[in-house]
Amino acid sequence: MTSKPKDQTTSGAKPASFAPVGPLTGQITVPGDKSISHRSLILSALAIGKSEITGLLEGEDVLATAAALRAMGAKIEKKDTVWTVHGVGVGGLLQPETAIDLGNSGTSVRLLMGLVASHDISVTFTGDASLSKRPMGRVIDPLSQMGVNFTARTSVDGKACLPLTVRGLCPAVPLEYRLPVASAQVKSAILLAGLNTPGVTRVIEPVLTRDHSETMLKGFGADLTVETNKEGSRIISLIGEAELSPQKIKVPGDPSSAAFPIVAALLVPGSDIVVENVGINPTRAGLFNILQQMGGNISFKKKRAVGGEPVADIHVKHSKLTGIDVPADIAPSMIDEFPILFIASALADGTTTTSGLHELRVKESDRLHQMATGLGLLGVDVTEKEDGLVITGSGGEPLTGGKKIKPIETALDHRIAMSFAVAGLATASGLTIDDITPAETSFPGFADLMKELAS
Ligand code: S3P
Repeated sequence: MTSKPKDQTTSGAKPASFAPVGPLTGQITVPGDKSISHRSLILSALAIGKSEITGLLEGEDVLATAAALRAMGAKIEKKDTVWTVHGVGVGGLLQPETAIDLGNSGTSVRLLMGLVASHDISVTFTGDASLSKRPMGRVIDPLSQMGVNFTARTSVDGKACLPLTVRGLCPAVPLEYRLPVASAQVKSAILLAGLNTPGVTRVIEPVLTRDHSETMLKGFGADLTVETNKEGSRIISLIGEAELSPQKIKVPGDPSSAAFPIVAALLVPGSDIVVENVGINPTRAGLFNILQQMGGNISFKKKRAVGGEPVADIHVKHSKLTGIDVPADIAPSMIDEFPILFIASALADGTTTTSGLHELRVKESDRLHQMATGLGLLGVDVTEKEDGLVITGSGGEPLTGGKKIKPIETALDHRIAMSFAVAGLATASGLTIDDITPAETSFPGFADLMKELAS
């Protein structure tokens, strides 16, 4: 019933080379926000009636969510640039006929586990070699407390992993849960399970993580409130057995994708670019803040709100960067941006230290290890600590290593692939990564867009 995880050696990896280019110039847009795209599809599938989404990210991860929702009864189509979702209503998901393969997408599997949990259906989820290694206990624990039953593979190091089967319960038992890790995926899984659960489901969030689920649930008409208690924790309360009304959604450009051309422009002498229509929600914008503190010439033009999210056009010019100590508490607002920050740090003047980044070890790859290894090959002075990297940059001098070194391993991780692609622009003689295909999960057309900026 379950498919074999995609293996790195047989997956059709495409090596790609990246070399120094002239100044990057021009105005570009980046694909839609991945987090908002997943949630747009999921909440539209639960509304009663027809929602319309523009700007949806058409990357593999989001397409995996769309396919999963179709397999559970939602009608999802694309015409011209508009995605239409005919929702089944909260509680209306159907039993899929086969196991659901979510490829590389952690957000898909964790959010859909929550969604399925309070439906009377049983769903098996599978994924590629990267997703099959990632811990699912963080979602299984709270959902089990709602009475939901799980069977999961146990990894060699004792973690609950894919393939796993969720046997949903309807009605499930409402839960009050304090998040033990700062994770928007876990928060969202619980809230999605709460939608079809009688009574109040409550998530206590000691550390603020991206708040798209809260904003969008309210936008779809759910009765959701957010308060802050004396300790500064957020208390998110959702009244269950909700009825969601269909919406028209405009997805803004993804700040996590914009991060790659933005850092590239900071590093390549003479560059001057504008990335239009980028989401700048403060729960996501930590990297921009840190790059400005490092001396990055980054300014925000035409600030506006699109579908309840703050958006701006981001103007970036080549800058001389200086290393800094990155405070651990900024990590949740830039959790996906550390790989590209490490590249910026490798070219900065002085030392950049990061800490509190244990979560990076359980992303699409162990990002601390992959980045330290790749930077080491490029001759960068890097130390890998348990919870962060310490990098002493070249002060703007091109990185060495170049074509003579073996290809840099990307480990099925889109952000590692794109980070080293950007690093290639700042080398003396170019570099090769072993596989560019992972970029398709979140940033279709990445390599072409970078070429366009350089031409
Ligand atoms: C995401 C949350 C983050 C992030 C991921 C997308 C989301 O994961 O890394 O790319 O859309 O909720 P965690 O919840 O594991 O921090």
